[in-house]
Amino acid sequence: MLGNVFSKAQGRRRTRTPAALKIIARSVRFDYLGAMRQQRYWHDNDPVKTHFFNALQAMFPEGERFFMDSARDVRDAVGKDNLPAELLEQIQLFIRQEAMHGREHDGWSQALIEMGYPAMQMFDEKLKRDNKWSRKHLTPLTRLAMTAASEHFTASLAHLFIYHRPDLIEKAGSPFRELLIYHAMEEVEHKAVCYDLYQEAGGGYWKRAYAMVFVTLDLLVRLRNRMRYLLQQDGLWDAQHRAAVRRLLWGQDGIMRALAPFLLQYFRPGFHPWETDERRDLLERFRNEMTLIDEMQAQQAADAA
Ligand SMILES: [Fe+2]
Ligand SMILES: [Fe+2]
Repeated sequence: MLGNVFSKAQGRRRTRTPAALKIIARSVRFDYLGAMRQQRYWHDNDPVKTHFFNALQAMFPEGERFFMDSARDVRDAVGKDNLPAELLEQIQLFIRQEAMHGREHDGWSQALIEMGYPAMQMFDEKLKRDNKWSRKHLTPLTRLAMTAASEHFTASLAHLFIYHRPDLIEKAGSPFRELLIYHAMEEVEHKAVCYDLYQEAGGGYWKRAYAMVFVTLDLLVRLRNRMRYLLQQDGLWDAQHRAAVRRLLWGQDGIMRALAPFLLQYFRPGFHPWETDERRDLLERFRNEMTLIDEMQAQQAADAA
């Protein structure tokens, strides 16, 4: 099926990805459990904001495996000979970046389990079963449409942290702050890889638009379930904290309200992720965190030599 779709797509590339784009697969390793033991509510001593990030990140490892699988499956179905060499290289680097993100967020989730939130494991297993189901019942192109939409969501989060709510990063304790910045930078770097692959494979507008609606709603439901559980475990799922969750997501300057205009860009028929380039501003605003990541890289290279 992909072959047919692909033949229709020949000759109508619409990428605006910078020609000299650098996708850097950085290697990091942090101690999340040690940090949580020192301060359970590591985000400004605020349980709601801490558990927002704990809940959000818990979806990353399985989510990222889903992303990698869908990109590999479509790449293989279209055939490497039918794809531009630079895109093939970007897919490889995207996979390496997501594999590293998955490993670090697994470590973060494991730390949560050890801190007294054992059901995080069950949430993860449910996501694993859902991904298995998708792989069996959905076409690779549909899964890639979901991935491209999810990648726009993560790039939008990076955009939010840089331009609208830097406090969400600045008030996070270490090493969560560094991990979030490192992840945000790499999400920006590879934000168009799956989108470009989707276009190359002949993916159409409606599938990607529906996928955006689906992944946003799906993420919100899963996020709420995890936040409720984490707060319940701490005995904090009361009216006051539920109101704080609503404010954080939907209030005046709430995360979802601030994200909405950027998310909506995805529904423009001619949209491309590289209409905006956040790399320089991210580097400027979070220079200390990125310097630490670079130093970690240099140290690892020196240790390996
Ligand atoms: Fe990622
Ligand atoms: Fe990503």
